[in-house]
This record gives sequence, structure tokens and C-alpha cells, in this order.
Amino acid sequence: MANENSGLNTAKRNKKDEFYTQISDIERELRHYRKQFRGKVVYCNCDDPYVSAFFEYFTKNFEFLGLKKLVTTCFKSQRMDFFSQNDSEQAIKLEYTGGAINSLPTPDDIGITPLKGDGDFRSQECIDILKEADIVVTNPPFSLFSEYVVQLAELGKKFVIIGHQNAITYRGVFPLIKDNRVWLGFGFKRNMAHFKAPHYEDTASDADHQEGMIRVSGVVWYTNLDHNKRHEEVVLVQRYHGNEAAYPSYDNYDAIEVSRSQNIPMDYEGAMGVPITFLTKYNPEQFEIIGATESEGRGFSFGLWNPSSNVPQATIGGNRVYKRLFIRNINPATSEN
Ligand SMILES: C[S@@+](CC[C@H](N)C(=O)[O-])C[C@H]1O[C@@H](n2cnc3c(N)ncnc32)[C@H](O)[C@@H]1O
Repeated sequence: MANENSGLNTAKRNKKDEFYTQISDIERELRHYRKQFRGKVVYCNCDDPYVSAFFEYFTKNFEFLGLKKLVTTCFKSQRMDFFSQNDSEQAIKLEYTGGAINSLPTPDDIGITPLKGDGDFRSQECIDILKEADIVVTNPPFSLFSEYVVQLAELGKKFVIIGHQNAITYRGVFPLIKDNRVWLGFGFKRNMAHFKAPHYEDTASDADHQEGMIRVSGVVWYTNLDHNKRHEEVVLVQRYHGNEAAYPSYDNYDAIEVSRSQNIPMDYEGAMGVPITFLTKYNPEQFEIIGATESEGRGFSFGLWNPSSNVPQATIGGNRVYKRLFIRNINPATSEN
């Protein structure tokens, strides 16, 4: 894992965030929300149309999705970094309302205009565009992810965006997840993405190697658009009663440890600690998210933590457990059913 993500960690250190999504991954995710795009203004606010597969996807599918408008804006450094032949510090904007001469219109067919500022998604100029948009779809800078999501949530925007699963417990993000205002999308194959990354060394193993790509594990889609998978019930096959030894209680949290989501017992009424990957299976009609370990943010456990332990991570027999979400089964089985 450390090896797989070393390219990403370097990116974080350099604050470069320059890796690009493949159109196949965009297509695989967005087909689940197709009807929700009809008549909508889509905004890709971290996307240079000369580089972005999000631009390509939405122009190609503009009529098919029945979009009203596509707007993309990009941060000034993006084009410089990616296309040496296109050296320009200019942040740009593109607006497309369909009907191009080509079925695959290029940015030049459509026409780009310069932005006044630097194209930062936090700039007033970009916020004004955002306010006019219905759905934001992009892969934003991972290093600014919390700020990015909070801005979208505060403006009440719909979105489908890429991020790392570690962001689930970020201070800005977790409260939104807990309150069912943000959830995970369908996801990448095996929870990992290959990104086009001209600046990185390829760290993928042989089997996964793809020329000019980095492989990043733990990549997910975050959204607040509804989708079918979110309402699928997880089939639970284990029982707690009669099998208590398999589910130790934490020393310092009022909850039991369930180290793998597939072992969630069907008949436990109280709080259960599960790995963050549980969220890929989360159905809000079946489970309630009640908190996370205090190591992720003080106050996140909502009273489950015993502060006199002084250890914010959950421990069992003195041994620390990796970060946990706390969940409760909304409708646990009884001994009769
Ligand atoms: C992970 S890359 C993804 C690029 C593109 N959205 C894609 O999916 O192929 C994130 C992009 O955000 C840009 N970026 C970084 N900071 C930004 C900011 N403050 N505002 C807008 N874009 C930013 C970077 O230049 C980078 O190209």
C-alpha cells in the first residue's frame, strides 16, 4: 500500500495534484446517474478542456444526457504542466450549450475565454459560476479535498467527484457523511484508479502496469446524487449472540469490534466499530452511522469514547486498532428471526 501510494504522497508534498482521470472510469461511474443530468448545468471546475476527460465525456454525451450547459474552468498552472506546446499561465473558461459542428467538438471548436483571475475553485469568479451550476463533476485536487467538499455542501450543490477514501474521516467531510449529505458512489474496479500522470514515476506492479499511468489504491467517488447500490441491503450471515468471543469490546469505546464488514452480525443492537471501507456497502435504510474514532477528530465518537483512557484510537487489550467508523443496525434480527 505504501509503495502503491508513493506517487500520490509525493504529489501531496509538492502540492502538484497533477494526475488525470481516464474517460473509461468516468463512463463507468456516470452511467448510474444518467437521468439525473437531464436539463442540468454541469460544471467541471478543475478541468482544462484541452486535457480533461470530463470535458470529453460531457461534450460527447451532451445530447444523450440532455444537458442544458457545460462549463469548465481551469487553474492557471494546469496547461503549462501538461502541454509544453501550450505554455500559458492563463486560466480559462469554456461554455458549451450543444450543437457543435463535430460530434466530438474540441475546445477550439467551442471557443475558450480567459478568466480574470487564476481559476482557483475558491475565487469569487469561480464561485459565481458555481452558483449558477446544478451538478459539479470532476476529480479535484486531493490536497484541498476537505475545503472543496465543504464549499459544495455550503452552496447546496449536487456533485459526483473523485477523492481518496481517507477523506471519509476528514474534519470537513465526516459530519456530512454521518448526516447522509454525502455518500460514496458506485466506485472504481477493486477500489483503485489508474490516472494519467506525466509527472510521476509508475509505481504499479507488473500485473497492473499501464504506460504513463499511476495506480492509486483507495480511490472512491463521493456524491450526493442517489443511486441504486446505496439502497441494496447487505446480506448479513453472522450472529453475535452465541458467538460473543468473535466480537471483543473495545477498552475505551462503548462498542464491539467488527474487523471486517462481511462479519457484521445481524443481531447486535449496540454500536459496532467497522473499517472505513464499510462505506462502500452502506445502505442508510439498514444502518445508521453514529460516529468515528476520536483519533480522526475530537468529538467524532459522540459519547462512545471514555476520555479517561487518554487514547483516541480504539484499543482492545491495550492494542490499538486502525481507525473505525461506528455504526448501528437499524433493524437488528432477534433470536426468533
Ligand atoms: C487530480 S487533478 C485532476 C484534473 C482533472 N480534473 C481530471 O480529472 O483529469 C486536480 C486538478 O486540480 C487543479 N487544481 C489544483 N488546485 C486548484 C485550485 N485551487 N482550483 C482549481 N483547480 C486546482 C490541478 O491543477 C489539477 O489539474
